[in-house]
Amino acid sequence: MSYYAPDLFKDKVALVTGGRSGIGYAIAETLLQHGAKVCICSRKEEPLAEAARTLSKLGTCVYRPCDIRKSEEVEAVADLIQEEFGRLDVLVNNAGGQFPSLARHINDKGWNAVINTNLNGTFYVSRVMAERFFIPQQAGNIVTIIVNMASGFPGMAHTGAARAGVENLTKSIAQEWARFNIRANCVAPGTIISSGLDTYAEPVRQLLDQLKEDNLMQRHGTMEEVANAVLFLASPLSSYTSGITLQVDGLDHLHANRMRLVNLFNE
Ligand code: ADE
Repeated sequence: MSYYAPDLFKDKVALVTGGRSGIGYAIAETLLQHGAKVCICSRKEEPLAEAARTLSKLGTCVYRPCDIRKSEEVEAVADLIQEEFGRLDVLVNNAGGQFPSLARHINDKGWNAVINTNLNGTFYVSRVMAERFFIPQQAGNIVTIIVNMASGFPGMAHTGAARAGVENLTKSIAQEWARFNIRANCVAPGTIISSGLDTYAEPVRQLLDQLKEDNLMQRHGTMEEVANAVLFLASPLSSYTSGITLQVDGLDHLHANRMRLVNLFNE
């Protein structure tokens, strides 16, 4: 059941990067349930095709494998959207990735990989979709998923740095592109129950249990709660809001226990 009008995104086209699984999949699903036509992309073709097949039960869903670190592959996604729909209304920058590590153990390759995906990739997709669709249309909406990193992100310094960059990029493009009737905002999820959590090793999973106890609402968030925040920012319900970050974290950004993150690696 949804509190939003079922036709909130009728005749609208949305691209969700990293839409194959987890939070991205939930966002794609929710947009489809509210009338949008959706394109999902991620790197691996087979699971992406499978996700698109399942999502197609809810409406029109197309897919294109794409590594967002390669702007020519991002251009190919724009080509597909142009051929299939001839327009784009909403870009959800959800693709990203990181691995837990103390900063001094992150080697050049690991550092560059995380910066490249989260910061460079998000920039490439935003620029390409703005040039190809939003600016010519004089309308567009960008919602970018980041993390809570306002107080740093011990244990994941690379993604904290990249996402802080993405948040600042969002503020810049929101101002540069307001004249084209483009809005750009971020959503910063806290600890969310998603398939992504299963990929972490045991100490991180123990940490997640502790974070739940620390949370003032005494729980983790749900993917639906993140998707509902995206829906708000992607829709005319937020038409006078741009350049902000909406925290979906049950208050963690105000008080989260940094010591737990620093101690994760038991040095
Ligand atoms: N999801 C995680 N990393 C990605 C990448 N580089 N391109 C597309 N989707 C991704």
